[in-house]
Amino acid sequence: MLNRIIANSLPYFPQNFVWMFSKRYIAGKTIDDGIDISRSLNQQGIWVTVDLLGEFIHSIEEAEANKEAYLQIIDRFNSEMVKGNFSLKPTSFGLLIDKERCYELVYEVVKKAASVHNFVRIDMEDATCTDLEIALFLKLKKEFPMHVGIVLQAYLRRTEADIKFLIENHHTSEAPLNVRLCKGIYVEDKSIAIKDYEGVRANYLKLLKRLFDHQVYTGIATHDYYLVEEALKLINDKGLKSEQYEFQMLYGVTPALRDKIIEMQYNVRLYVPFGKDWFGYCSRRIKENPKMVGDIVKAIFIRK
Ligand code: FDA
Repeated sequence: MLNRIIANSLPYFPQNFVWMFSKRYIAGKTIDDGIDISRSLNQQGIWVTVDLLGEFIHSIEEAEANKEAYLQIIDRFNSEMVKGNFSLKPTSFGLLIDKERCYELVYEVVKKAASVHNFVRIDMEDATCTDLEIALFLKLKKEFPMHVGIVLQAYLRRTEADIKFLIENHHTSEAPLNVRLCKGIYVEDKSIAIKDYEGVRANYLKLLKRLFDHQVYTGIATHDYYLVEEALKLINDKGLKSEQYEFQMLYGVTPALRDKIIEMQYNVRLYVPFGKDWFGYCSRRIKENPKMVGDIVKAIFIRK
């Protein structure tokens, strides 16, 4: 209840105040900030995937500006030898305004990443985008089989069928699938999404096993201790090689778990968001999941 009140009143707090505790979760406001944080994570043996904050655009011109920004980011990462790839949200490239133009813009980004042997992950947004984002991914994968990946959400009931479809039709040894599996962050209706915590966990493990069984390269994206432990058991039972998976976490979240995984010598990639829209990003994330306020408020007092 208190979390919800704080979440709803966040837009009325001064931005500088909110920044004091958001900066633990956001790399900064500029490309330079994103590069500095990424480089220091690289020095700790951590890979990154960077995301330019810029959801909810209203025009194709804004989508074009986002494309230009990503091209610049890819150039900078490449020339400054930062070890990381790129995540993007198709709605910030105009998915819900003009899906053909969105494809052209994201195509340019993936083409650029491919030209420097890098990789772009298509983030998964709310359920109104699922079909569109899978279709976008498949169209791009045809052009750049090794340079683009998708995210799938374990809370969606449809994901099991999506995985089956993707494995049967779009997963070969020459062009293997690359999937990030997460629980899913949006508020969805119970007709399409599993709502109970244990149910989502169980589905996550079922789907993870399916991906591993078919040698799909998998980003195990979770901060849930139980899921990490179960994933480690699966990895050991199946004798998976380190080239077949990586752990993924959000920048600033559960650093103790992250360090434990690194200590055990598993590959870890952090999702590093940055950009001038950081305030909108924080407010939206917190509104979507008021429980985050508890973590953010704790972060004001506990500095690890
Ligand atoms: P759970 O929510 O149970 O969290 C476990 C613990 O982690 C919590 O108890 C809390 O301590 C901590 N924690 C988790 N999230 C936190 C946060 N945001 N702030 C502070 N503490 C937090 N979703 C989506 O719909 N589309 C996407 O494309 C992506 N992409 C993505 C990339 C990566 C690298 C990660 C790690 C996650 C995503 N997600 C996502 C978000 C994902 O769907 C999910 O909402 C969060 O990861 C939280 O789920 P957990 O599995 O961590 O478990």
